[in-house]
Amino acid sequence: MGVYLAESIVRSTVESHFDSDPTISPGLLRLHFHDCFGCDGSVLIKGKSAEQAALPNLGLRGLEVIDDAKARLEAVCPGVVSCADILALAARDSVDLSDGPSWRVPTGRKDGRLSLATEASNLPSPLDSVAVQKQKFQDKGLDTHDLLKTLCPPNGDGSKRVALDIGSPSKFDESFFKNLRDGNAILESDQRLWSDAETNEVVKKYASRLRGLLGFRFDYEFGKAMIKMSSIDVKTDVDGEVRKVCSKVN
Ligand code: HEM
Repeated sequence: MGVYLAESIVRSTVESHFDSDPTISPGLLRLHFHDCFGCDGSVLIKGKSAEQAALPNLGLRGLEVIDDAKARLEAVCPGVVSCADILALAARDSVDLSDGPSWRVPTGRKDGRLSLATEASNLPSPLDSVAVQKQKFQDKGLDTHDLLKTLCPPNGDGSKRVALDIGSPSKFDESFFKNLRDGNAILESDQRLWSDAETNEVVKKYASRLRGLLGFRFDYEFGKAMIKMSSIDVKTDVDGEVRKVCSKVN
């Protein structure tokens, strides 16, 4: 199957779910992030001791979209597109559909054969200090800029949960950073990004952004950081497979 066909199948699947529920897009972005401290689709695997069972992964949304895309892809050409690639493509399409930037997603990830709840402790937690959050990103080769560039700007389902971005909870934009500047962040850990000297510098730049006009191009930088994040600990044929169904290993 050509890359173009695979991408268009994922895109149309995400679009059809987005049309009936636009709040699915932050769910899909977060799902990719939570998979990506090892981007191998392991967050999709079901099981009592699998990653999904870990505390930071409770409340993940959008798994049915990935399953749907997988079923459509397998029907056309079985065994080619991994669940990890579908996650990366769906996250990109979700941001794009929410008026955010778009980027080219490198593909070819293989799916892991193991999913351990204990691995979720690598994920940064809202209870971590900024220093620990930075360290957790650094352990995976991401720096402070990447942390801020990828940090939850688009937001969730205001009816079911607290929106993390007052002002424009369903749009992908700079209002998250303006809220940090103005002391209006929802998560205490997000607000601490304003007090930490290094992250403060970056927040100030993003808060003053005028899309496309200022030199500091958040949209471009966000795409770059996402590509970096979606390359963390990627699996190859040696240690991975293309799953037939995303919720279980072959
Ligand atoms: C220091 C790092 C991070 C911390 C502490 C953090 C923490 C959180 C928390 C506590 C929530 C709320 C969960 C809930 O309502 O159940 C959340 C939601 C979210 N996060 Fe993060 N996050 C971090 C990094 C990221 C990154 C890197 C991304 C994307 C690349 C991301 C994307 C999202 C999105 C889109 C949501 C909304 C999900 C939804 O509506 O279902 N986060 N985050």
